Order: sequence, then C-alpha cells, then structure tokens
Amino acid sequence: MSEFIAVAKVADIPPDSRKRVEVNGKKISIFNIDDQYYAIFDTCPHKKTAPLIRGTLDGIGIKCPNHGYRFDLKTGGCNIDPNLKTQVFPVEVQGDDVCIQVG
Ligand code: FES
Repeated sequence: MSEFIAVAKVADIPPDSRKRVEVNGKKISIFNIDDQYYAIFDTCPHKKTAPLIRGTLDGIGIKCPNHGYRFDLKTGGCNIDPNLKTQVFPVEVQGDDVCIQVG
C-alpha cells in the first residue's frame, strides 16, 4: 500500500471548489463538496480526451463536459456505460495538507 502524498493545502480547495494536481505524471482532480474531498483521474475514460475538472457537479458525481457521462466521485462508476470507470484515489487531510494515495 503506497503512502499518502501532500498535493495541496486545505486553503487551496475550500468547500465547493476543485483543483487539478499532477502526481507522477497523472492528472488528478480533487473536489471539495461540503468539506468532503474526492479525488479522481482527470481524463474522462469515454474518449480519453476531456478533462473532468471542467465538468458539472451532479450530487457526488461529475458530468463530463464533452458528452455528459456522469462519474461517481466515490466509486468512479459511470451512469451510462457500466463498463466505463474512472480511477478514484483515497484522500486524507493531514494538518493543513490535502493528501492523496496514488498507486
Ligand atoms: S469524453 Fe467524456 S463523456 Fe465522452
């Protein structure tokens, strides 16, 4: 099991905001919804071109800006195609750092 890596400050991602970070060459989007953090692989798995950071929030899900597929921020599951899934990463706050577990 890999360690949690600090990727942002808590102040950088206040409630109802989002931030894209890059860890080991992977673009990861972090969302803060009601003080709960979620981290997902940023590239939409549908056509592998759209950045999910630019999507529209729909509850605990993000709708891709290209074709509107919705990905659950907890599971990575897709509402349209059950075979599509985006990677999700555990998030932990350590002091004033937002940390994610990649790998
Ligand atoms: S590229 Fe995201 S739904 Fe098509």
